[in-house]
Amino acid sequence: MSDPNERDSKLVQYMNEAYGKERELESALLAYIDMTTKAPYKKRLKQHLRETKGHARELERRIKKLGGGGHALQNVVAKTMAAAKAPLHAIRGSGEQEKMLKNAKTQYSDEHEEISTYLALETFASKVGDKVTAKLARDIRREEERMAKFLEGQIKSLSSAVALEEVPSAQRRAVKASVSRKRPAAKKAPAKRSAKPKAAKKSQRQTEKREQSERDEIPAGGPRPTSRGRSRRLGESHRRPRAVAPRRR
Ligand SMILES: [Fe+2]
Repeated sequence: MSDPNERDSKLVQYMNEAYGKERELESALLAYIDMTTKAPYKKRLKQHLRETKGHARELERRIKKLGGGGHALQNVVAKTMAAAKAPLHAIRGSGEQEKMLKNAKTQYSDEHEEISTYLALETFASKVGDKVTAKLARDIRREEERMAKFLEGQIKSLSSAVALEEVPSAQRRAVKASVSRKRPAAKKAPAKRSAKPKAAKKSQRQTEKREQSERDEIPAGGPRPTSRGRSRRLGESHRRPRAVAPRRR
């Protein structure tokens, strides 16, 4: 078989990386399943282990189709397995719920690493016209996203469980009380806003007062009023009396 061209070499490189991660997570999932005591969580982990094995199989098939596989693929697997975080799982956390919480956080992070790997593979494959690899990457990514969504719910429920398991109820109430004491301060906020109209009214009154005093000062320092203006203030008419023609007899 001839060597793959640049396009296929790059596709194989990306799929090798994805394959290595899937194989690493296979062994990690086995450890998580052993440690998990919560039934629905354990069941979902088992389901995802089957999905993960399926992803690795489909990737391997596609890698071989594009001229990859063999020693290169085995080397990738050996490297990723050496870097696996499995030994940490057994010593995590003080309580049972906390151990599961820490595992869920690591799994959530792993799922997002896979999501980004498949998003990059899908985009690259589409760009170079490989619809088969693009579809494979999209289908796998959707399964990883569903698992990440499930883990998000687990992280929330396990965090709540840790609070119940490890913090005495009196201390949890104390936190609630300190939060409720802060609330009246928040209610005072609208009163501050109402201070603005008051300030505006005061400023308006001051302006009116100043204008009034300026009006009062006009005769002393302002322009001299005209004779017509003076007459008007005195209630006089500035019109001359109309001349009356003498009657003819
Ligand atoms: Fe996954």
